[in-house]
Amino acid sequence: MEKVRYGIIGIGKMGHRHAEKLNKGLDKNAVLTAVCDIAEERREWAKNNLKDVKIFTDYKELLSCAEVDAVIVATPHYDHPVIAKEALLAGKHVLTEKPAGVFTKAVRELNELAEKKPELVFGIMYNQRTNPLYKKAKEIIESGEMGSIKRINWIITNWYRPQAYYDQGGWRGTWAGEGGGVLINQCPHQLDLFQWLGGMPVKLKCYLKTGVNRDISVDNDVTFYTEYANGASGIFVTSTHDYPGTNRLEIDGDGGKLVIEQNLLTEKLVFERLKIKESEFNAKNKKFMPRIPSKKIRKKTGMFKNAVILGLVGQHMNILRNFSLAVLKGEKLIAPGREGINGLTLSNAAYLSGWTGKEVSLPLDEELFIYELSKAVEREKQNTHA
Ligand SMILES: NC(=O)c1ccc[n+]([C@@H]2O[C@H](COP(=O)([O-])OP(=O)(O)OC[C@H]3O[C@@H](n4cnc5c(N)ncnc54)[C@H](O)[C@@H]3O)[C@@H](O)[C@H]2O)c1
Repeated sequence: MEKVRYGIIGIGKMGHRHAEKLNKGLDKNAVLTAVCDIAEERREWAKNNLKDVKIFTDYKELLSCAEVDAVIVATPHYDHPVIAKEALLAGKHVLTEKPAGVFTKAVRELNELAEKKPELVFGIMYNQRTNPLYKKAKEIIESGEMGSIKRINWIITNWYRPQAYYDQGGWRGTWAGEGGGVLINQCPHQLDLFQWLGGMPVKLKCYLKTGVNRDISVDNDVTFYTEYANGASGIFVTSTHDYPGTNRLEIDGDGGKLVIEQNLLTEKLVFERLKIKESEFNAKNKKFMPRIPSKKIRKKTGMFKNAVILGLVGQHMNILRNFSLAVLKGEKLIAPGREGINGLTLSNAAYLSGWTGKEVSLPLDEELFIYELSKAVEREKQNTHA
């Protein structure tokens, strides 16, 4: 195989961007050969804008097309694991959009299938793992400089969405259409990074608010607390109704403190590295209010540069190029598909805790989650806010 031949399932807002980039040849190891969408208007768009591409209405037809080696699944979330599973069974490599799905049971079953098909590459579009600042944070943590993590806090309240966003209708902002609100739609990247950098917690307690300042049934204001096997703790705060909101990640470890903060024009990382680990310092120190010597390491990216060059264009292409090289040459995946379940587990656990008012231990009770989700869908149908 000289180039990976891609088929894209779902060419709406996200899928059509992947299609345009592949069709323009932005990945030299890839070629777009097919697209599929159930909406006539999207197929019409494909006819008018994409060259030499087969256009399908039914994704099963695309999956049986011999000119497709790999598929990108860019439909609404409930279908991600369903289509991804069928694609693997049809012998196609799979790059799925985030989130991995809506409930972990379906995603775990997909992972089990992918495990049995090691010859097929399975990835997920966690493009923010290629943001230079989160990559740097990962490097610092993996190098051991950070020492054991004590605390991870993320305030991500700059996902502003007005009523007009929710009023556009369709699948967005509903339990039935997408399985939730800010946690399942806007936050999957941050939830992935929260666990990529901080690890998976052992328990979680969530305060889930739905319809805050908006006429919607899903969550748009959420705070959860996490606890880890080593005794560390975390806080995750998100909303879609604050303006301008905050995007600040803080990680405290035995070796120092790392902050990544995004403002309107800049995005910066500051790592204050302790010259001696706090635990070692504390074991010898006799002073009551001492200072531990430290050094600051800084890294900055312009928001504009990050969004345009590295971000919205580059980040997705980074994942796509890496995926093509994984198919062609066995390059290590930046975002393996099987890791998609981790961020989803966090949002499922948060919903479950919010609905039941109880702390949730991991591993998650998947059946209970599905049962509670079905109740939220039912409440939504009855037109009372879930
Ligand atoms: N990685 C990212 O940064 C990023 C950004 C935006 C969206 N997304 C994800 O991409 C997915 C799609 O989001 P969007 O904003 O493009 O939504 P969208 O509604 O604009 O597009 C979805 C498309 O899928 C089509 N579709 C639905 N069911 C289908 C089926 N069974 N077969 C074929 N086509 C089908 C729809 O007709 C529509 O055109 C979501 O899961 C979303 O979370 C990811």
